Amino acid sequence: STVPTQGSGGLLECSFAYLTVRDRLPTILTRVIDTIHRNKNKFFEEFGEEGVQAEKRTIGFLSKLRNELLTDKPILVLCDGLEDTDSWNQYLQRQQRLLGERDPVSWFKSPWLYIECYMYRRIQEAIWLNPPISDFDVFNESKTQSFFESQQAVISLCTYLQGFNRNMDDLSETQLMEQFHKLLQVSLWGNRCDLSISAGMENSQKASPIDSLSDLKSFILVDDSNMVWSALTSAQRPGEDGKTTSGRVDIVLDNAGFELVTDLVLANFLVSAGLAREVRFHGKSIPWFVSDVTAHDFQWTIRQTLAANHKWMSKSGVQWQSYVREGVWSYHDHPFWTMPHEYCDMAGDAPDLYATLQGADLILFKGDLNYRKLTGDREWDHMVPFDRALRGFGPAPLCSLRTLKANIQVGLQPGQGENLNTQDPSWMTSGKYAVVQFSSPHRE
Ligand code: F6P
Ligand code: MG
Repeated sequence: STVPTQGSGGLLECSFAYLTVRDRLPTILTRVIDTIHRNKNKFFEEFGEEGVQAEKRTIGFLSKLRNELLTDKPILVLCDGLEDTDSWNQYLQRQQRLLGERDPVSWFKSPWLYIECYMYRRIQEAIWLNPPISDFDVFNESKTQSFFESQQAVISLCTYLQGFNRNMDDLSETQLMEQFHKLLQVSLWGNRCDLSISAGMENSQKASPIDSLSDLKSFILVDDSNMVWSALTSAQRPGEDGKTTSGRVDIVLDNAGFELVTDLVLANFLVSAGLAREVRFHGKSIPWFVSDVTAHDFQWTIRQTLAANHKWMSKSGVQWQSYVREGVWSYHDHPFWTMPHEYCDMAGDAPDLYATLQGADLILFKGDLNYRKLTGDREWDHMVPFDRALRGFGPAPLCSLRTLKANIQVGLQPGQGENLNTQDPSWMTSGKYAVVQFSSPHRE
């Protein structure tokens, strides 16, 4: 059967992809340049004159990058000699073969997914090639700011979590399931708060997350959460000591700030309710798509929560810290997560990562970018089943928790897409709608 092309190779004018590359990416680059400039004094204090020189050179690199983008220059090979540099350059050759030899692969003549990933990787190259500021996370300020702006919502979520943690033993199976559905939805809607869709502008959670769930329910276009529940409960086995042991859940994280807190709260619930014995979090090894979680963001968020001046928030943080210390929770990163590859390539291109994921009983993929990579960011018909769009990717039962921010959606009912097109033409990109889509390699 035929596989459609990747989202707007050729970037048709007026398409969402085109507008992202034309408007949003340069804005993000301008903000990055601005951030580095504003930190000039900090670099001077830390590294003296050498820091200031590095700041200047980095800005030079990034201004050149911005110009390459705006004037549709050819995509350049990476030259920072890092672990993933060769893979990136091979990927560029692959794009060139797809395009044919007549024109060079350029910013506006390439699949959108590739171009976006490439821009973030080039930002990192600029930083890396300029020691001593090579550790600087250009998006750190906006990530921490968005965490603090969501403080009220974080407090209400932690208070809610501690409330039923205290009454956990009294919960019936049905009540447990209801809590699970609620927290899964909180984590789902947490994905609305990413900073790349708003080009880095403020986009935090203000309202109390639990209270808004029932109003949001009708915006969930596909809801497979019952299957997620079944995957969790069917991983439970009677242990030798007579107690039930449960499975391993992997969460492929998306954004820091409020979304990460919703993921930690869900993970806390899964462990304390005995629905998971272990949770592995997968994050990015470099700053990515503005707000994505890095190892530093992960640790920082737990430390902030723990040190908060609020009883239930800090209690949650203490709990999370001890999960990490005991190894019940662990954080992992892998260069594959910051490559442009679709996930059906993972078994071949990152077999170690694929093998690790095979050890999970359930994998939750957070967010829009993960959805684009799961489905290859291809122009699938809306009615193509999710399983088919995965093109064989299935290391373990998996579920995508995604609010729609890009022009792709599969697994809809007949007529559903057409209805949405007439009701709300921007349904795929506004972040107003969401899906919970499940796929299990053992289901057939
Ligand atoms: O469209 C804006 C955008 O940058 C998309 O390119 C990307 O898929 C998305 O936002 C990032 O969203 P998320 O943080 O949910 O992956
Ligand atoms: Mg993101």
